[in-house]
Amino acid sequence: MSTLIKNGRIITAEHDYSADIFVEKEKITTISSNLNIEADNVIDASGKYVIPGGLDVHTHLDMPFGGTTSCDDFETGTKAAAFGGTTCIIDFATQSKGTRMRNALDVWWKKAENKAVIDYGFHMIVTDLPEAHMEDMSDMVREGITSFKLFMAYPNVLMVDDATIFRAMQHTAKTGALVCMHAENGNVIDLIVKQALAEGKTAPIYHALTRPTTAEGEAVNRSIALAEMAGAPVYIVHLSSSDALDKVAEARDKGLPVYAETCPQYLFLSLDDMNKPGFEDAKLVFTPPLREKWNQEKLWAGLKNNTLQVVSTDHCPFCFKEQKELGLHDFTKIPNGGPGIEHRMQLMFDGGVRQGRISLNRWVELTSATPAKMFGLYPEKGTIAVGSDADIVIWDPEKEYTISAKTHHMAVDYSMFEGKKVKGNIDTVFSRGEMIIRNDKFLGKAGRGNFVKRDTYAGAWK
Ligand code: URP
Ligand code: ZN
Ligand code: ZN
Repeated sequence: MSTLIKNGRIITAEHDYSADIFVEKEKITTISSNLNIEADNVIDASGKYVIPGGLDVHTHLDMPFGGTTSCDDFETGTKAAAFGGTTCIIDFATQSKGTRMRNALDVWWKKAENKAVIDYGFHMIVTDLPEAHMEDMSDMVREGITSFKLFMAYPNVLMVDDATIFRAMQHTAKTGALVCMHAENGNVIDLIVKQALAEGKTAPIYHALTRPTTAEGEAVNRSIALAEMAGAPVYIVHLSSSDALDKVAEARDKGLPVYAETCPQYLFLSLDDMNKPGFEDAKLVFTPPLREKWNQEKLWAGLKNNTLQVVSTDHCPFCFKEQKELGLHDFTKIPNGGPGIEHRMQLMFDGGVRQGRISLNRWVELTSATPAKMFGLYPEKGTIAVGSDADIVIWDPEKEYTISAKTHHMAVDYSMFEGKKVKGNIDTVFSRGEMIIRNDKFLGKAGRGNFVKRDTYAGAWK
C-alpha cells in the first residue's frame, strides 16, 4: 500500500514548508516538492497542514481506580484519540500492592492487544518496591517500559514514601529510565480532607478546596530534591499551579534535568467553572484539582518559555451516572479523573495557536515531538521525516467543531468542555501508513495498534 499526500504545508517542531510526502507501507519514504509517483492513494492536502500524529503520554484506559474502572477501554479510548489527531498513547499499567510489575504488564498487554486502534506504550505505576524486587525495574526497561510513575498522594492506595522514590530514582539514574511524579503532599491533604468532612463539607467542590497549591508546590520541590540527590532526571505529571511551576523553573535555572507537563483542563478551566448547583461539579473532580483562574496565564507562559515541555491529557474518564455518582454524599468517594483524550490537539490549536499564545511549531513540539523525545519514541514518532512512521495528520485549520458529549467518540456521558466551539480539526488521519479516519469516518479496526517498545529517556533526549 502506498499513499501520496500532495500540496500540504508540513509543520514539525522545527520546520514549516510546502512539499509532497510519499508513504510506502508503514513509513515515510520520500519528501519533496512536485512528486510525480504512482501511488495507491493520492490525497490533495491543499490549504491544510500536514503534521506528525499527536502523542498523548498520559492516559488511563480501562483502569481500576476509586472503586470503579475508567470507562474508556483501549478500543473506545484509542479511537477517540485518533478522532482528535492523536496516533500514539502511553498508558499507565498499575502494579497492585504485593504483586510484581510483570503481572501488571501482562494484564495491561491483554487489555490493549485486541483493542487498540493506534500504537501504544506503557509506563509502570510503582506502588510497591521492596529491595528484593529492584530488578523488576530493569526487567521493565528491557521490555520497553522506560518510565515509572510514583505517587506522593493517595496514602494507603498509591502513595509511596520518600525512601522508595529515592531508591527508584537511584535505579533510573543507572538505567536511563525516567521517573514521572504525581507531586502532591498526600498526608497533609488527607488531614485537611478529614477536617473538611468533620465540618460537614461533603460537596464535590471540597475536593478542590482541600488540595492547596502549596501541597503541590511542596511535593514538586521535594521530588526535585530527591532526584538531585539521586542524580536522576524527573518529569512532573499534570502540573496545575503557579506554585508548582515556580519550583520547576527554579530547578531548571540551576540546570537540573527537571521536566513537566500540563493538561488542557488546567489551561482552559478553573475554580470559576465549579460551584454549580447539585452534583454537577463532580464532572470536574480530578487530581490535582482546578485552580484559581490566574494560574492559567502562568501555565501558558510556562509552555511558551519551556518550563513546561509537554501537554498531555491525563485522560481518566468516569461516567457521571453511576460512576461519579458514587460520591453523591461524600466527595472523597467520587472517582478522580476527567475525559480529554479526544480534544487535546483542537484545544491547543484553537486556544494556543489561534489565540497567538504559541506558534504552530510549538504546538507540534508540545503535543507530538517532545513527548516522543522524552519517552524514547523519536524519530520513529513525533516528526515528519524520511524513515519515520507514517503517523500523519492532515489538519484543517478552518474546520469548526463544537465539543459535545453528543458527538464525541469517548465512552463517557459528559464532556468537560461541553458546548465549546473550536476552529481547527482533523481532516485525515494515518497510523503507520494506514488511513484510519477520512471524512469523519473511522476506517481502522480494533487490534491494529501495535505495542511500542520504547528507548530510554537518556537515549532519546538531547
Ligand atoms: O484525577 C486523576 N488525575 N486521575 C488519574 C490518576 C492520576 O493521578 O493521574
Ligand atoms: Zn497522577
Ligand atoms: Zn493520570
